[in-house]
Amino acid sequence: MINLLPEFWYLATLSRKLTVGRSVPVTLLEQEVLLVRAGDGRVHAYADRCPHRGMRLRHGTCDGAALQCGYHGWRFRLDTGRCESIPSLVENDIIEPARFGQRRVPAARQPPAARRTGPDRSAR
Ligand code: FES
Repeated sequence: MINLLPEFWYLATLSRKLTVGRSVPVTLLEQEVLLVRAGDGRVHAYADRCPHRGMRLRHGTCDGAALQCGYHGWRFRLDTGRCESIPSLVENDIIEPARFGQRRVPAARQPPAARRTGPDRSAR
């Protein structure tokens, strides 16, 4: 479960360490988060736990479009976190993969300017 303080931004890593096709696990306030850069260059962050059986997604693969869990192979789209594929499904299964999703954590290359400045210290 991701339970970071929602009103704050955290420095997670250097942007240059995020390359397409590689996930970077970090720990923020004792929460395991997985950082990834999508093929379009955008940065995404997800809880580092698969919603299926809780496997750490860092042990899976990332191809720039999706994270794939290394345990049963569920694939999660990077742009939405929604599951797009469950390899064990067979024809006529009624389970819709998109019902399942990975927990997203807001991520940005840098925080919005209004939040970056913090308290006004110019009077000191
Ligand atoms: S634990 Fe991730 S797909 Fe099963």
